[in-house]
Formats: sequence, structure tokens, C-alpha cells
Amino acid sequence: MAMQIFPSILSADFARLADEAARVPNADWLHVDVMDYHFVPNLTLGLPVVESLLKATGTPLDCHLMIAEPDRWAPAYAEAGVGSVTIHAEAARAPVRTLREIRKQGARSGFALSPATPVEPYEDLLGEIDMLLLMTVEPGFGGQSFLDMVLPKIRRTRELIDRHGGEIWLQIDGGVSEETIERCAEAGADTFVAGSAVYGAADPAAAIDKLRALAQG
Ligand code: DX5
Ligand code: ZN
Repeated sequence: MAMQIFPSILSADFARLADEAARVPNADWLHVDVMDYHFVPNLTLGLPVVESLLKATGTPLDCHLMIAEPDRWAPAYAEAGVGSVTIHAEAARAPVRTLREIRKQGARSGFALSPATPVEPYEDLLGEIDMLLLMTVEPGFGGQSFLDMVLPKIRRTRELIDRHGGEIWLQIDGGVSEETIERCAEAGADTFVAGSAVYGAADPAAAIDKLRALAQG
């Protein structure tokens, strides 16, 4: 399985986003955290900034919506040209409809679970999902410590995805570093978001290569 590294621009310099995107030419995708002060106690950016970023980089964008009303806002991100749009299980009220609308607009559909949210209730939803995101920190901030308690859920999710068949990426977000990425890969993750581990490094592109090599094993 090819291991993918998605640097999170949450840890980049928001005043220089185009330059920060250009510093990671070896990124598979760019992870963009959208926060609204409601679903999480932090505020980042929204569609206008995402539209500008789409024009500024050729790297596909992965928008992680940590917002209170994803059913209302997610389809517009897909329509704008975002390649992957992820909504949270804890916030979505009509996930089937919203995931279908994301796909209808031509984007990959992502579904995220916070650390305390079990995966089993969503097994029947797998047919609607192109990427399942397991948070390995409580959503809201970069630079938090990786939660080991999520590792068994990564294993169970890998089994569910394999049993389901098809191509669903299993993404991990939060505290991914040179110290933690191997554990996640061994548990079955194939797609890794890394904020501080990439943009906190002196050479972000080299940090991506290192993380990818560690995940590949
Ligand atoms: C946190 C965000 C993450 C964040 C990860 O809620 O969803 O994408 O950027 O940052 P690190 O990799 O520093 O934990
Ligand atoms: Zn994220």
C-alpha cells in the first residue's frame, strides 16, 4: 500500500500560504483545517481563503471541516474544486446526503471520527466514503500529543475497510511524528496528516520524505 503524507497548513504561516504550499512540493495533498469556533474552540479560515489557495497551488486540497453545520457548507467546498472534503460524524445530521453531495460535486468524500467516537455504528456508511479519518487528538489545535488509545480503533477500522472491499483511504490526524507514524502504519493507516512535524521542521520537504519512509517500513 502506498503511504501518503498530507502536511497540514494549520502549522504554516497563514500570512504566506502560497509560499508555504510551495515549500512542500513532495506532499501528496495539502490538508486544510477549517474551524468555526463552534464545533471546536478555534477559528481558522473558510471558503474565500480556500479558493485563493486553489489558485495558488497545483497540489490537491484536502479540506477537514471542523464546523458545526457541515451539511450546510461541505458541498460548496467540493464545488469550488477541493479534491477531498471531510465532515465530522459528531456534527453531521444527514451524513448520507452530504457525503453523496460531495461526490456529486466531483470530490472525494471524507468522514471523520473524533477519538471517543466508535467506528462500528458507521459500518453501513462505508459505501458512501472515500476516506475515513480517525482523529488521534481532540480536534481543534496543532501540536497536541498523539493519543495511543486510538490505535485499537485504527486496527478495527482497517479490518472493517478490508472486509468491505473497495478503495477507502484510512487517514490519521493529530500528533503524527517520526515517533508515532510507524505505530499508525502498522495498525493499518495509509494516509497521514502532519502539521507541526512538517512545518515545525527546518526542512519541511525532508520531513515529509522521512515520515513517508518510516510509514512504508
Ligand atoms: C487538529 C487538526 C490537525 C492539525 C494536526 O484539529 O485537525 O490537522 O493540523 O497538527 P499536528 O500534526 O501538529 O498534531
Ligand atoms: Zn485536520
